[in-house]
Amino acid sequence: METRAVYPGSFDPVTNGHIDLIQRSAKLFDKVIVAILKNMEKAPLFTVKERMEMLEEVVQGLDNVSVVAFSGLLVDFAGQVGASIIIRGIRAVSDYEYELQMALMNRRLSNRMETVFMIPAESYSFLSSRLVREIAQHGGSIKEFVPGGVERRLGEKFGLQL
Ligand code: PNS
Repeated sequence: METRAVYPGSFDPVTNGHIDLIQRSAKLFDKVIVAILKNMEKAPLFTVKERMEMLEEVVQGLDNVSVVAFSGLLVDFAGQVGASIIIRGIRAVSDYEYELQMALMNRRLSNRMETVFMIPAESYSFLSSRLVREIAQHGGSIKEFVPGGVERRLGEKFGLQL
């Protein structure tokens, strides 16, 4: 049977840490669907279209990975695309509480959904989209943290040469 997994997130913007997890997941599962959340509580920096374009660029060459946007409950979306696995990254212990809460709630909402936690390369253990946005906003270098296309778009957003 085909193992189909959803990798959900805000991806505002995608970082090298996300890419590391996408590559690891692509080796582990038959199909990986990167799912961008549309209806965020906080206003995102990048539109769904922009986040989608940045992700499309980075998954080029990974034949079993696709990118889609979703709204509503993650478990409903996963069910619609035939996935029974949710991938989440855990960087440090501080991620654990929130992730445990979500995993257990998702299991309660749909008991056929299994959350798989993955650990990114340790060089990305401190990396987050929020920090990348903040550094870029203040003109700091984000070269090591995001792909070139994302760096360029962050520069454009903030009217800076990063
Ligand atoms: O990258 P993020 O922002 O930490 O991702 C959070 C995400 C998208 C996984 C989470 O907010 C989510 O699944 N939202 C969809 C709505 C939902 O299903 N909520 C109940 C989660 S228990």
